[in-house]
Amino acid sequence: MKQSIKQFTLATAVMLSATVALFAADLTKAYDMPDASKLIEKDLLAEPAKFIMPKSCKLDDLEAIKRGSFFFHNLNGKKVKGDAPKGVKKFIGKKAKQYGNCVACHNIEGAKGGGNIGPDLTNYKTIFVDSKVRDAQFVYQKIADPRIDNKNTHMTVNLTTKLFDESEICDLTAYVMAKKEAPKKEKK
Ligand code: HEC
Repeated sequence: MKQSIKQFTLATAVMLSATVALFAADLTKAYDMPDASKLIEKDLLAEPAKFIMPKSCKLDDLEAIKRGSFFFHNLNGKKVKGDAPKGVKKFIGKKAKQYGNCVACHNIEGAKGGGNIGPDLTNYKTIFVDSKVRDAQFVYQKIADPRIDNKNTHMTVNLTTKLFDESEICDLTAYVMAKKEAPKKEKK
């Protein structure tokens, strides 16, 4: 029985490679072949970096919290229906502005399909901030570059990669730390 599976696999492999050989045209002349090492270099993450939360961060500013919420719950400007909050770009030139899509990994108040790869950030103020387990500097650093706290993190790097700028990291920090109302249950 095992032998016949082996023979079958071998036969399939031989057939496949014959097919590949038959159809493999030399494409190097048809396309510009980019230098792969340059491409990889571009995709490599910069070294983990420490950041100090700027004094200009306004954690109680309702407009900042609104922007932070928008970044948290959206993927990019192209996918957003309707208006973005004041001061938020949907496009930079023709390119869609990338947001955090934090909700893909974190549950939080009002999350639609919140993920569970990262910890649940619901009631963050009560559980982590008021209890003094976390402070603004920790949250700011975590969002800016989570690798400082956890070098094996699965979280996205947001400031070192320039996905966001300092003031946008402030907005996200303000949103995560703000007291948030649980969303009202929709009537059925
Ligand atoms: C790919 C999944 C992923 C994404 C996307 C992600 N996170 Fe995280 N996050 C994690 C994981 C995993 C942790 C657990 C700690 C660690 O490994 O750094 C974490 C931890 C955190 C913490 C620390 C919680 C605590 O006090 O321990 C905060 C705050 C946070 N994330 C905010 C955000 C924000 C804001 C965004 C969007 C800009 C975001 N995360 C996007 C996976 C993610």
